[in-house]
Amino acid sequence: MTDTTRIRLRPAGPEDLDALWAMSTDPESAHMAAFPPVPGPADRADFDDRWKGRFADPDVEVHSVLADDEVVGNIVVFGPPQERLIGYTIARAHWGRGIASAAVRQLLEQVTHRPLYAWAATDNAGSLRVLAKCGFVVTGRETNWAHARGADTEEFMLSLGEVRLTPWSEADFPLLERANTPEMTEYLGGPEHADRLADRQRRYVALSEGPASKGRMFRVSLTATGEDVGSVGFWERDWRDEEVYETGWAVFPEFQGRGLAVAALAELAAFVAEHGTRPVLHAFPGTDHPASNAVCRRAGFTLLGETQFEYPPGIFHTSNDWQLRVDEDK
Ligand SMILES: CC(C)(COP(=O)(O)OP(=O)(O)OC[C@H]1O[C@@H](n2cnc3c(N)ncnc32)[C@H](O)[C@@H]1OP(=O)(O)O)[C@@H](O)C(=O)NCCC(=O)NCCS
Repeated sequence: MTDTTRIRLRPAGPEDLDALWAMSTDPESAHMAAFPPVPGPADRADFDDRWKGRFADPDVEVHSVLADDEVVGNIVVFGPPQERLIGYTIARAHWGRGIASAAVRQLLEQVTHRPLYAWAATDNAGSLRVLAKCGFVVTGRETNWAHARGADTEEFMLSLGEVRLTPWSEADFPLLERANTPEMTEYLGGPEHADRLADRQRRYVALSEGPASKGRMFRVSLTATGEDVGSVGFWERDWRDEEVYETGWAVFPEFQGRGLAVAALAELAAFVAEHGTRPVLHAFPGTDHPASNAVCRRAGFTLLGETQFEYPPGIFHTSNDWQLRVDEDK
């Protein structure tokens, strides 16, 4: 917040219907949202009935956003547990005051259910910024018919807490074997021999048992179902006279294309920001590896340029040098 306004949330009820109606019938707001969290029908009586239904529905949480005790917005949380969504609106007169950012942050402390999803039109810069500041990452993109625009509109799907990171343990060796296929190692020099894989397992476990500031390997699993989807980690590297961290990740083929590497990197970056002592995280995907370069871009890394990167030892490969700062507040 840039001013001293006090923002708080409270459960919405019939006393908020006038404020909800005003927000739902603002054409600029509806156009921006494209797919408003709760479309406003033209008829007021019908509108009131629908909202009263939501207030009474145990699976829908409707929160009013208050700024100094005035209702200035709402946040709705709805949908089945594995696909629970949030949507929100702030009254136009109050845009640009940091209210959505503060309100969504508060909501995420109150509503601890994960994963949580949100959708935003790709041109809804304000909403995308709010979500990014609150830790959501873009994990998908679709074009759908938007009633509020009367046009097909591209939207991003964003997620929070979609994956869970667990420090690597002895029990995770089968995941290394699962990732040691020609398909999974195509850009990493091919499958490793059994003794090298055993060495890798020892390194991963040692890293995860040591001080967090030196690095960690993690098993990545889906929060909703517990299924293992791959690995992500970071470790120390001296790079161009600087002490940095390097990161690497793997997502099993059946889970690829769902933005899970981006989600895992977001969790990893938060861990490094909390426990790391070095300011930046680097990734070095081969220039010929489109998927991993796309992951870096989506995860907010900056491309520094091409480099000759040695991996596996003795083999030089043209790679991109991507960097993410982990020492700055969002
Ligand atoms: C999207 C919306 C909720 C943002 O509310 P808000 O209270 O103005 O948001 P904040 O003031 O917290 O702004 C958050 C950030 O977005 C930026 N931002 C806000 N509106 C923006 C815009 N139109 N274009 C670019 N950036 C914008 C702010 O500068 C701020 O960034 P910063 O913290 O880096 O400075 C509000 O515009 C709205 O209700 N729109 C209509 C409904 C809607 O789109 N809901 C979301 C559906 S997904």
